Amino acid sequence: MSTTTLPTSVGSASPRADGIAKVTGQARYAAEFKIAGRAYGCIAQSAIARGRIVSINTDEVRSCPGVIDVLTHASAPRLHPVQDTEAWLLQNDRVHYHGQVVALVIAETLEQAQAAAEQLHVEYDIEPHDVVLRPDHPGCYAPDHVNPDFPSETHAGDVDAAFGQAAFAVDQWYATPAEHNNPMEPHAATAYWDDGRLIVHDSNQGSVRIQSALAALFGLDAADVQVVAEYVGGGFGSKASIRPPAVLAAIASKVAGRAVTVVVTRQEMFSVIGGRTPTLQHIRLGADESGHLSSVDHLSYEQTSQIFEFAEETAVLPRIMYATANVRTGHRLIRLDVPTTGWMRAPGFAPGSFGLESAMDELAQVSGIDPVELRIRNDTDHAAEGGAPFTSRSYIECLREGSQRFGWSSRDPRPGLRRDGSWLIGSGMASSAYPAGSAPSTATAFARPDGTFIVEIAASDIGTGARTVLTQIAADALGVTPARVQLRVGDSGYGNAFSAALSRGTASWGWAALKACRQLAAKLDGTPVTEVAVRADTSEDLKAQDKLARYSFGAQFVQVRADPGTGEVRVDRMVGVFAAGRIVNPTMARSQFIGGMTMGLGMALHEASIMDPQFGDYANNDLAQYHLPAHADVPAIEIGWIDEHDTQVNPLGVKGIGELGVVGTAAAIANAVWHATGIRYRTLPLTPNRVLQGTARQSQER
Ligand code: MOS
Repeated sequence: MSTTTLPTSVGSASPRADGIAKVTGQARYAAEFKIAGRAYGCIAQSAIARGRIVSINTDEVRSCPGVIDVLTHASAPRLHPVQDTEAWLLQNDRVHYHGQVVALVIAETLEQAQAAAEQLHVEYDIEPHDVVLRPDHPGCYAPDHVNPDFPSETHAGDVDAAFGQAAFAVDQWYATPAEHNNPMEPHAATAYWDDGRLIVHDSNQGSVRIQSALAALFGLDAADVQVVAEYVGGGFGSKASIRPPAVLAAIASKVAGRAVTVVVTRQEMFSVIGGRTPTLQHIRLGADESGHLSSVDHLSYEQTSQIFEFAEETAVLPRIMYATANVRTGHRLIRLDVPTTGWMRAPGFAPGSFGLESAMDELAQVSGIDPVELRIRNDTDHAAEGGAPFTSRSYIECLREGSQRFGWSSRDPRPGLRRDGSWLIGSGMASSAYPAGSAPSTATAFARPDGTFIVEIAASDIGTGARTVLTQIAADALGVTPARVQLRVGDSGYGNAFSAALSRGTASWGWAALKACRQLAAKLDGTPVTEVAVRADTSEDLKAQDKLARYSFGAQFVQVRADPGTGEVRVDRMVGVFAAGRIVNPTMARSQFIGGMTMGLGMALHEASIMDPQFGDYANNDLAQYHLPAHADVPAIEIGWIDEHDTQVNPLGVKGIGELGVVGTAAAIANAVWHATGIRYRTLPLTPNRVLQGTARQSQER
């Protein structure tokens, strides 16, 4: 529709498309579908970490008030064997981790299901468990690949020889703890069967992926499974693959012959949902007299469960971050009797950047080169491993803009000198990077006789603003105002689409929406509008993707204060400047970056899931004991970005912003704590007890 000269919507601060639906409570979440006669399922969890179920008192519990059925491995319908054995629930008597689903109680009300579940008694044949990650574990192995499809091991040049000749060297271990995703809305599903078809309202990051997982488990055609995630209260990676509520609700509704809702509790989210692996990272950096990296060596130790291999890509960042001829990266995995670890908030790049960017700060310290200048000297236009050129890399611009906004140039590099009462003040910085990319998706655009348009795409808006930015992209392609475009998302029936994952939502869905809307506009050109629909998918376009390196970059600067008497660390100020291609909506983008940096702050100072080796599970499984940043923890975060016009990344020029902000924050904060206190902390999080251990050690050394 080429007649108008509207200002483009892409790039403007279009208000959140679903804002009113959310604040007025009209937006319905997965557990809120009040289907007539629906029942509730309550999960019962294993009380041991390893062994076999010997017996469960199901007969007794079946007679509890309101109970419809009790499903166990002995009574649940058989599922088809699948690769992802995590979702293969209630199929045998094996217990692989503490907190595993061992039964589901179905009852008329939630309270009745919960009360009956408390009466369940499970007898076990207990086996000794093994739940602690250590690098000398005999079961340590190199996986074939790491998430999502990177090689596990790479080696370019000769790292050992170069490291041996380095003028400046850093050789250290860094550790990050297990962490749990904790989106605000717990995982939930409401399922029912309609004439052999399975319909599931599910809280997820990608309905098509969940649809195919359910189809495989129940031996159905994908067309006979419909998964709908209309509104989702956050995901952070933990809703990108199928989770127990969808499977259990589907099983239970099949048995009960009515709709069943299953919601996990906050406490259950620390076991049945998974979380991030702890990492132990050995990093060796070598540099010449002028600070140019001569070698980078990064090896990460991680855990996964007995039932599913997930290998976090912790050592991938050095493959692309800096110029060096000699770079070796690798991963070692250990299978433990723990829940399967999985995707969480910038997998690999978040914990890996804590290691690499802390080590870079240590290299700056030993070489006497300013941390920003050190990074500028080590910039590159191609990936160190493999040599692929970047489609765009405005990293230096981020460093310069961030330094300028923060006032970095006036920084005295010496640590432990600035005081404000009992506080020691310091500043630090670190770099951010995250892969960009697109995955095949399908969009259908409809023109309606009243001059409005509908675009359907099985995208998932987990709070990111996906609906809003897709509306903007569609409006521009159609040549109309966003007010005339309605986006429908979240329904697997809209055709294949990628998930809200890998920060690739906008690039993937936006491409499909752009294509469908452009084709529709061309079809309508000059003709009076009647009902017209165009469906477009990008799977063929994406086959042509070349081997260029597609990455977003950024630089983060923080000021902290640390009290050596109490061990308390507060963040005074955070500045993040990012280069992530084209920014579709500055309000949404800013909010995504602030969210990412807030998660990074949580990783730096608060978040850790503490494994109890005797008990065999995480001991702090609620938000009182697993502290997420609250308002009082987070300063005003200043966000900037560098406009990139990268036509090689994809036709929209967008790179993705969901996870980039998490990368580098924790290192920037730890580096600032070093600058404040003179103490280098290499284990996260920087809780008061850990900070005090450092100050106690420091005073002994004096
Ligand atoms: Mo993201 S952790 O790839 O959902």
